[in-house]
Amino acid sequence: MHATVSPLSPLAQSLGEIPPESIVFGRTEAMRSVRERLTKIASANVPVLIHGESGTGKDIIARMVHGLSPWKSGPLVKVNCPAIPGTLLESELFGYEKGAFTGAYGAKPGRVEMAHRGTLFLDEISELELGLQSKLLQLLQDGQFCRIGAQEDKKVEVRIVCATNRNLEVEIESGTFRQDLFYRINVVSLYLPPLRERRGDVEELVHYFLEYYNRKFNCRARALSSELMTVLQKYHWPGNIRELENLMKRYVILGNEEAIAGDLAPRQASFFNPDIDFDGPISLKKLTRQAVRELEGKIILKVLQANHWNRKKTARALNISYRALLYKIRDSGLPANRSARRPQPMVPQSVAAD
Ligand SMILES: Nc1ncnc2c1ncn2[C@@H]1O[C@H](COP(=O)(O)OP(=O)(O)OP(=O)(O)O)[C@@H](O)[C@H]1O
Ligand SMILES: [Mg+2]
Repeated sequence: MHATVSPLSPLAQSLGEIPPESIVFGRTEAMRSVRERLTKIASANVPVLIHGESGTGKDIIARMVHGLSPWKSGPLVKVNCPAIPGTLLESELFGYEKGAFTGAYGAKPGRVEMAHRGTLFLDEISELELGLQSKLLQLLQDGQFCRIGAQEDKKVEVRIVCATNRNLEVEIESGTFRQDLFYRINVVSLYLPPLRERRGDVEELVHYFLEYYNRKFNCRARALSSELMTVLQKYHWPGNIRELENLMKRYVILGNEEAIAGDLAPRQASFFNPDIDFDGPISLKKLTRQAVRELEGKIILKVLQANHWNRKKTARALNISYRALLYKIRDSGLPANRSARRPQPMVPQSVAAD
């Protein structure tokens, strides 16, 4: 749900919580610019918005932002917004005074206060309801907030880092996210590209996870064959690095290539095959969104084909704005236009263009 986690430390690194920099950023151009931006902004203590698809490493990058900030020796307090119901989230974030509501037998500081002189990491910020968005806006404007039931405002010094896998501009258009808050949290943004846009890093990630899980589970799984590596490099990776990591975990435990080749194959034929990480918290909401995204991809592809890849006509046919269509095309991994289509043997049916 939420936790005070220790800042980036050599111990955390050696435990594998944060992979080495060379793995986190890889060698592709897309990630080189993320690293450059991160280095520049981390010390400036401004709000940072990290966005990118699920499993692209937003959590890791948020920890790095904290680890490089002037308040790195302060707390890093993470709040997973959708994991806490709206009414509870307010008291979790801002705290309450004794007697503020039935059951409030004593005063309790909120996460905001606990993050004083440190970083408040708001994960999946798009899930914050509008009422709380305005309270957060006040915090960003003047560092002030009010515990539930308190007479006076309190002041904190805190750096706010937010993460989302949604396009907040589309959320603003649909009225679920405040535009003024967007400008406040988005002083600097870091976009993490999906794995299919950094295929050059797949091989190194495979080696890294192979070694890591061999060590962790005391196994001796062998390096992958070049044939399977080629398949992995062409695969669409809808679950991004998390999916690759889970795949390698399974490979190390099961110890044979057929086991993972089999895991990839049904994905081509099935409508939706959720990639559930049983080691961590399971979010029904997130998995459902993933399914919706795949379904949207299928629908959009059909309508695009019916409209000979004319995107304006497609947007009209789907009754969405042109901008929203472009976003959804990118979001679901469809090619930007007909000529950009390339044969991709491991691409799920929902996104295979042919
Ligand atoms: N660049 C990377 N190098 C190595 N491992 C990574 C990298 N990015 C992500 N991972 C691993 O992939 C998994 C998912 O990463 P993370 O939780 O940071 O993704 P996320 O973008 O926050 O996803 P979500 O939107 O679902 O919360 C983690 O187990 C993490 O260790
Ligand atoms: Mg995350």
